[in-house]
Amino acid sequence: MSREWKAKWIGTNTEDKFHPVFCKEFEIKENIKKATMYLTGVGLFEAYLNGQKISNEFLTPYLNDYLSGVQYFEYDVTELLNKTDKPQNTIEVFLGNGWYKGRFALLPGGNIYGDHFAMIAELELETEEGGKILITSDESWNYQGSDVEESGIYDGEIFNRMLWEAKENPKKQAIVVDEKINLLKQYSLPVVIKETLSVKEVIHTPAGETVLDFGQNFAGFVSFDSKMKKGKQIHLEFGEVLQQGNFYNENYKSARAGFKYISDGREENVRPHFTYFGGRYVKLSGDLDGVDPKSFKGCVIYSDMERTGFIETSNPKVNRVYENALWSQKCNFIDIPTDCPQRDERLAWTGDINVFTGTACYNMYTKDFLMKFMKDLRAQQIRDGGAVPGFIPAIGPKMVSSVWGDVATFMPWTLYQMYGDEQILADNYLLMKDWVDYIDRQDSLRGDRQYLYNFGFHFGDWLAMDGSTENSMKGGTEDFFIASAYYYESTRMVSEAAKVLGKTDDAEIYADRAEKIKEAFLAEYYTKNGRLAVDTQAAYVVALRFGLYMDKKRVTDAFRLRLKKDCYQIKCGFVGGTYLCKALGENGMEDLAYRFLLNEEYPSWINEVNLGATTIWERWNTVLSDGTINPSNMNSCNHYSYGSVVEFLYAVAAGIKPAKPGFEEIKLAPLPDKHLRELKCSYKSVRGTIVSEWKLLEDGQLKFHFEIPDGVKAYLTLPYFPEAEGESGKYVLSGGSYDYNYFPTKDFAHKFEDDSIVKDLAADEEAMEIVAEVSQPLMFMMKGADKEAASDTLAAFTDNPFVPVTREEVAQIMDRIKQITF
Ligand code: BGC
Repeated sequence: MSREWKAKWIGTNTEDKFHPVFCKEFEIKENIKKATMYLTGVGLFEAYLNGQKISNEFLTPYLNDYLSGVQYFEYDVTELLNKTDKPQNTIEVFLGNGWYKGRFALLPGGNIYGDHFAMIAELELETEEGGKILITSDESWNYQGSDVEESGIYDGEIFNRMLWEAKENPKKQAIVVDEKINLLKQYSLPVVIKETLSVKEVIHTPAGETVLDFGQNFAGFVSFDSKMKKGKQIHLEFGEVLQQGNFYNENYKSARAGFKYISDGREENVRPHFTYFGGRYVKLSGDLDGVDPKSFKGCVIYSDMERTGFIETSNPKVNRVYENALWSQKCNFIDIPTDCPQRDERLAWTGDINVFTGTACYNMYTKDFLMKFMKDLRAQQIRDGGAVPGFIPAIGPKMVSSVWGDVATFMPWTLYQMYGDEQILADNYLLMKDWVDYIDRQDSLRGDRQYLYNFGFHFGDWLAMDGSTENSMKGGTEDFFIASAYYYESTRMVSEAAKVLGKTDDAEIYADRAEKIKEAFLAEYYTKNGRLAVDTQAAYVVALRFGLYMDKKRVTDAFRLRLKKDCYQIKCGFVGGTYLCKALGENGMEDLAYRFLLNEEYPSWINEVNLGATTIWERWNTVLSDGTINPSNMNSCNHYSYGSVVEFLYAVAAGIKPAKPGFEEIKLAPLPDKHLRELKCSYKSVRGTIVSEWKLLEDGQLKFHFEIPDGVKAYLTLPYFPEAEGESGKYVLSGGSYDYNYFPTKDFAHKFEDDSIVKDLAADEEAMEIVAEVSQPLMFMMKGADKEAASDTLAAFTDNPFVPVTREEVAQIMDRIKQITF
């Protein structure tokens, strides 16, 4: 129910361009039982009662679809109120620019939604006697300039305690303003300090700078205790990486991302109020007397979500990849799901969150956070006749594209699977349906429908490496192939959602349309005999993910071949790279899935770790092997998109998936890998905590441990189970804890097999000793093999007339190599 406001919006005189603080002083003589503050302000507000901040939230009123309205907040302030014995009370509300009024999105300039500061507040007091007193914002409030000299989401803040030193700053009467802003009850999660980091190292760089290293790329702000002398100032700038040991943040593009504090000599704890930063390093300049660099605190802020997923493996580098994805989620879940938290974007790009939704839902309880996003997305979609923009709020060009737009269907469907709440689908059904209808309408505008999304603009396999150059924006997979495949899957999801919601007519209409799209897709992109005509990594990922093939075996065989030809190097981008491991693992190619996961060479997830990443990079080559940042102009070290590999760990490696929405029933199908050895995963589903753990024992046995919540049924499939009478490795389990040990049908004890590739053999000392004993020249050739030859099996090596080794010798070598254990 919307609130009946008695208060008036108040603002400043138009000539007052400073950041204001609004103030109301009042006395309370009655006995007060409860005090509740309702308020908001634009761009951003921070409110205090009697000098105490009235909530633990930062950056209120957040970023929602401001064209629909601005959120207001309700706080219990009973504890902060001065009661009868000390009846004087003061409310202060500070305002900053924020998204509403500051520079934001891809447009130059600011004032996107409004060009002036304004606020509204009501303090509701309940007396012991049951009476009500209302203190409302109106002309009885006053305002003056605050010490915030400048503020902006991208550029940071100047907090100047000397701002009014030599200037008049009189208290002026607040101006009642006629704001047309619709007031919406808070539907954002609170953004709070979730963690604090301390300084790991104070670095004195070769360039003579003082740089704090927090050891972790994070988003939020820093705070410090100041004993600075009057008139002295300190300047903080954020950066993600050092370059040649020096501070660097050119990858923030036009975002200045700085905080300047000018002291008036008071001792205080200092922090910015109306901005946030992303980075690991903070450069300090100015007058550092009176501050202790080691005492700085990194305040990590994000929307208040519960962590639900935990993974630990025997490989510390895989663990770091996992942590990096988790950190990129923390840094980019500040009220809206952003692409990155540091440069002049920080936008809720729809494609990025589309590919990351699954991972996000395993890592944290994201339902409320993402429901808010979808509410705002829907508001924009209604204005755009069903189209879904590249990012919201849709400021500037709309950039409607497949995959990005398909968040409208994929997100509600994924959330429904993870959380099992039909309301998710009910609330977002029109979002889903209008998106596919929009494509259908565009399709039919051309005359007869083609049932393909083969028109318009698309981001394609964004940042893939099989495009024209390794720094191209787009990969080599045809945009319309991707678009049509997603169009199919989106339409199918609408039909499924309709079924759940009991909309049987719709269920049929969309199932039928999906079938037609599939038919058109198969006709367009497959040869008559079932060969996929688009031979790129992303194409195979997409085809397998959505079941878009005629003959699966042909597709998986061709995929294997493609990967071999690519020397097992990841080349796909936001569309393919994000689901590569999952698509491989789910389609009988887990050996390859783990190969990519565990690959340490460039480009790969672990390559980033080896180069010091503590969050997931935007590009495979954001930082080059020599530590220098890629000279292309788009390089964030904190983009979660490729972090979606983590979904593979939860859903395929640990094998935890919902068999029924909301894990009412669970599919448990772990897939161990001999090169990873051990994995422990727990996921706190809405039905309770699910545990899946596996370990490879030295003797080749597989050991599993599972925990199933009470009242939940789990369908367990044990991998490579030696079927014996009455035992198939398939079990239906109810709540409880289970352990299994067995010798699997697949050899997990020995490192190598006949199709092990030269690169892996060459990296193994024991294997190379065996090769050297039989053929020294072969050993040298293997060690010096180029990328292509290193991706072949040893047997393939011998088919080459230039290699001085016989088949018999190779067979003999392989027989011995295959005995090597872990
Ligand atoms: C963003 C992305 C986004 C893309 C659109 C970039 O500038 O950082 O992650 O999805 O533009 O393709």
